[in-house]
Amino acid sequence: MNLSIKHLYGLEGVPKEDLTQIFDTAFSFREVLERPIKRVPTLQGKTIVNLFFENSTRTRISFELAEKRLSADTINFSASGSSLSKGESLKDTIQNLYAMKMDAIVMRHPVPGSVKLLSQFVDAVVINAGDGTHEHPTQALLDIMSLKEKFGKIEGLNIAIVGDIRHSRVALSNIFGLKTLGANVALCGPPTFMPCGVESLGVKIMYDLDEALQFADAVNLLRIQRERQGKGLIPSLREYRNLYGLTRERLENLKKPLTILHPGPINRGVEIDSDVADGDYSIILHQVLNGVAVRMAVLFLLVGGK
Ligand code: CP
Repeated sequence: MNLSIKHLYGLEGVPKEDLTQIFDTAFSFREVLERPIKRVPTLQGKTIVNLFFENSTRTRISFELAEKRLSADTINFSASGSSLSKGESLKDTIQNLYAMKMDAIVMRHPVPGSVKLLSQFVDAVVINAGDGTHEHPTQALLDIMSLKEKFGKIEGLNIAIVGDIRHSRVALSNIFGLKTLGANVALCGPPTFMPCGVESLGVKIMYDLDEALQFADAVNLLRIQRERQGKGLIPSLREYRNLYGLTRERLENLKKPLTILHPGPINRGVEIDSDVADGDYSIILHQVLNGVAVRMAVLFLLVGGK
């Protein structure tokens, strides 16, 4: 039942066997989430701190719920209201928290690489809840789990990831996880949203959304990360929607089923029309449910539950 990894910094380099074990465990925890009493004693006596230096709705609540479902003691820390505003460093903050005997730290931070740096300061299990434009491994795990549930497999699936690839940690983690499991991945978006050299990860690059949708069994739509980019990468949101938005008209013209994912938060009317996000092909809210199960699995496997 042991993973080869000791921390979850990202999905880069995580072997297929570990991914398979995480999904198998997550599917068994999905059964717990359907019970009248949705709690197991698996992490009783363990203490987990959720450190969020960036805003979050889904990831923060999903981790907290997963920890509670596993009976762990949880502490929630947000940068605002902490002694960071008095000049305390991240290292001192984390070492002080660790001195209170934490078993695991879940961290979201705007700086790429910050989560890996954390494990130099403490001996606890470290889990990345999103580090800047780098990786968001549990988001990709829940995306892939949702695809596995829908299609029964990942190998050979054609997955298009559409939008602001350049600023997206979700895209990078999905690429690593999907490629390890044998999916064919296409990235689609304006050239200004495409990272240099990304082809070296074994993905196709497409600049035409209709071509990407024809290729895809499933599409993962990303929002434009306005908080991480300078101005001028796209002329206007209106033009972006016309060229890269998943509109009802575009979906109807496709004339084939398409599974639609979105990590959230959604910018309705930009990357996706409201009725498409809420329509029959969308599994967006199902992804959120799987998010709790996959985070339970990661916590269980890494924090040493019995
Ligand atoms: N998908 C995701 O990371 O959402 P939050 O920013 O709300 O956590």
